[in-house]
Amino acid sequence: MSISIKSIKKKDRACELIQKNKMIFKCPVCSSIMFINHSGSLTCNSNHSFDLSRKGYINLLTSSYTPVYTKELFESRHKVCEAGFYDPLIDKLAEIIDGYKQSKEHKGMNILDAGCGEGSHINSIFNKIANNSNTFKGSKFESSTFVGIDISKDSINIGARNNADIIWCVADLAKLPFQNGSFDVVLNILSPANYSEFNRVLDDEGIVIKVVPGSEYLIELRELFYKGEDGSEYSNNIVIDYFKEKLDVKDIKHINYKYELDRQLLPDFVKMTPLTWGKVIDGLNKYETDISTATVDLTILVGTKKKL
Ligand SMILES: C[S@@+](CC[C@H](N)C(=O)[O-])C[C@H]1O[C@@H](n2cnc3c(N)ncnc32)[C@H](O)[C@@H]1O
Repeated sequence: MSISIKSIKKKDRACELIQKNKMIFKCPVCSSIMFINHSGSLTCNSNHSFDLSRKGYINLLTSSYTPVYTKELFESRHKVCEAGFYDPLIDKLAEIIDGYKQSKEHKGMNILDAGCGEGSHINSIFNKIANNSNTFKGSKFESSTFVGIDISKDSINIGARNNADIIWCVADLAKLPFQNGSFDVVLNILSPANYSEFNRVLDDEGIVIKVVPGSEYLIELRELFYKGEDGSEYSNNIVIDYFKEKLDVKDIKHINYKYELDRQLLPDFVKMTPLTWGKVIDGLNKYETDISTATVDLTILVGTKKKL
C-alpha cells in the first residue's frame, strides 16, 4: 500500500515538473511543442503521446534500444558514487557552474546531464547547489531546472528513485527531445557526445561541460585486467581535439586523486565499469590484495558555442 502511494507521488511530482517546464520539450516524433494532456501524458498537437512511468520518469525514445550497460553495472556504479568516489569531481563541477552562474546574473538555470547514467552526478550537483546559500539562494534555485537523460531505462529508474525534483527522461542524446536554446548548461560526463545536438539545445550564452578520462583513470584496473594487451593504455587526445573542433574552449581543468578503497566496496568497484567486461573475475580475494586504492584522473572541458 505504502509503495503504491509513493509511486503515485513520484508520478505526480514528475508530472508537475514537466508541466512547469513543458516549453523545453520537443516532440521526438514530429518536433512540435508539447503539453500535458488530461490523462497526464506528455503529448503534442499531432497526438504523439508519451506516458509518465509510475516510477517518476518519462520514456521519450521512439525506437527500441538494446541495453549495452547492465542494471547490475548501474547499481554498482550507484554504490561507488554514494561512497564519495567522485566527490572531488562534483565539487569542481559545482564550482564551474557557480562561477558561470554568477557571471551571467540569470534568474534560474536549466541544467541538462546528457548520458547521466544512474543519475548520481546530477543529483549531487543538485544537492550541492541547493545547499549553497551564498549563490543559489531563494528564487534563483527555485526557478532552476535539472534534467537527466540516458538511453538506458535501468539507469534512469535508479535516478528517479533518488531525487523526484529532477526531470528524468529515457532519451537519445543524439536526438534530444528538447527545443533549441533550452539549456544554460549541458553536462556530459564520461559518456558519448553529440555536439550538434548539444549546440542546438544550448542557449547562445550557455556552456557545455564535458568530463573525459585521463590516461591514469582507473589505472589499477587496467593494469590488473589488461597487462600489456590493448586497453592497458589510454589517451584522451582525440576526444579533446574533437571537442575543440566543435566548441570554443573556455577552460580545461585536470583532477587527479587517489581514492582509498574500502574492502566492502571492491566488488562494486570492479563491476561499475565496462573496463572489466569479458574479463574472468576469479574470486574477489585477488582484488582485495591487488587493489587498495583507485586513481581518478579526469579532464574537464568547458566550451561555448563557436562564434561565427
Ligand atoms: C560510462 S556511462 C557514464 C554514466 C554517467 N555519466 C556516469 O559518469 O556515471 C555512459 C552512459 O552513456 C549512456 N549512453 C550511451 N549512449 C547514449 C545515447 N545515445 N543517449 C543517451 N545516453 C547514452 C549509457 O547508457 C551510459 O549510462
